[in-house]
Amino acid sequence: MSDRFVPGSLDSLVDKIALVTGAGSGIGRGVALALAREGCRLVLAGRRPGPLERVAAEVRAHERDAIPVACDVGSPTDVDALGKSARRAGVVQILVNSAGIAPAASFLEMEDSLLEEVLRVNFMGTYYCCKRFLEPMIEAGWGRIINIASTTAKTAYPHTAAYTASKHAVLGLTRVMALETARKGVTVNAICPGYADTDLTRDNARRMAARIGGSAPAVLERFAGTSPQGRLIAPEEVADLAVLLASPAGDAVTGQGINVDGGAFMG
Ligand SMILES: NC(=O)c1ccc[n+]([C@@H]2O[C@H](COP(=O)([O-])OP(=O)(O)OC[C@H]3O[C@@H](n4cnc5c(N)ncnc54)[C@H](OP(=O)(O)O)[C@@H]3O)[C@@H](O)[C@H]2O)c1
Repeated sequence: MSDRFVPGSLDSLVDKIALVTGAGSGIGRGVALALAREGCRLVLAGRRPGPLERVAAEVRAHERDAIPVACDVGSPTDVDALGKSARRAGVVQILVNSAGIAPAASFLEMEDSLLEEVLRVNFMGTYYCCKRFLEPMIEAGWGRIINIASTTAKTAYPHTAAYTASKHAVLGLTRVMALETARKGVTVNAICPGYADTDLTRDNARRMAARIGGSAPAVLERFAGTSPQGRLIAPEEVADLAVLLASPAGDAVTGQGINVDGGAFMG
């Protein structure tokens, strides 16, 4: 079991089936491992089989089942196949949508194709997975959907038009789904991390350093400096909140976008 503080009954998640997208790295990996520690059985989705296999091995080290499934969440055909693979585990009771991409570009320089791809993965990917896995949750009378959005779901930064639009859309979808499932035993929430210590952030720091000059570590320092706590968010900190939302402590929490950002954005 995790030695981090988790409110609620830890037994409540034992043998629940959780599907995590983007599970091969960063926040998705952190959430998958945290749920495994609490006793969940995992279905792990992402495009590259290698990272998924490695996380599956880490889950199995907690004596929990893990089914890695290569899947592009932006493809409805792939998500349908993911649904069929997940059936091998049983009915998915907890869905965590963490798959995402964050290429940056100024609005005028942004190619249409960049916007389309970011919306396809971040928004349509979340939508396809919600659409595929919500109904069985409703039939079972219990379910949890946790969308990893971003503080950009609520505010904006330059050079992030595609990403910001996609995350605003994810939060809007989250809120509507929460209303429509509120009396059906299902909660739908978003977690809104600030700059997190993951590949996505490190890649962006490298790209920004190449564009404006300077070093990637210096850009990472700038990212960290935007938080009142002066640091990046650890994937495990996002994962702990996901565990709380999945547990009975989260029963009355639905339709929320909860910031995990060291106080960077207070709204
Ligand atoms: N890092 C931050 O500062 C930050 C802040 C706020 C929110 N977030 C959000 O947190 C989530 C996780 O990001 P992260 O920081 O953990 O970055 P990450 O380590 O790059 O994780 C993103 C994961 O998504 C998967 N992925 C990308 N495109 C996919 C697709 N089309 N289909 C299926 N899987 C796909 C990637 O694996 P494959 O390449 O193998 O598919 C990767 O494992 C994202 O939604 C991101 O927007 C991150």
